[in-house]
Amino acid sequence: MNTINIRIQVNGSWQELAVKPDDRLIDVLRDQLDLTGTKEGCGQGECGTCTVNLNGHAVLSCLILAAQADNCAIVTIEGLHKGSELHPLQRAFVSEAAVQCGYCTPGMIMAAKPLIDMDAEASEGKIRQHLSNNLCRCTGYDQPVRAVLKAAKEIKEDTNA
Ligand code: FES
Ligand code: FES
Repeated sequence: MNTINIRIQVNGSWQELAVKPDDRLIDVLRDQLDLTGTKEGCGQGECGTCTVNLNGHAVLSCLILAAQADNCAIVTIEGLHKGSELHPLQRAFVSEAAVQCGYCTPGMIMAAKPLIDMDAEASEGKIRQHLSNNLCRCTGYDQPVRAVLKAAKEIKEDTNA
């Protein structure tokens, strides 16, 4: 099959890639760029496990063709930490026991990030609604919601400091 040349920014670095027209974004991230933190669950847009950020929005990387991401900025779970310092969401997921088997965690965090970037005062109800497309078999959802609330509070306090 013919390939298409695309240019995408991934976690701050521009990448020039040759992709097949039917390559999904998740495949290119995992197989070409070795960014295996993004997980595949259903592959059909139903579970949220594959969520990444595209131009600051949470998107399902199993439903987007890599070619559609040409000239876009992608952030994956690997792009959140700064050196050895974890992002507040990553720290809060650990401290609130929101990581159990961990399979849904990258998608949960990448779904939550644009929300708290836009609204660090998001209510518990808003966070629950925002994460309602991210399925988790282990936690019962209370811990991830608590983790997002905790991270949002930390980000707000840092912003006001
Ligand atoms: S793997 Fe993409 S939504 Fe389930
Ligand atoms: S922690 Fe196991 S699926 Fe969510």
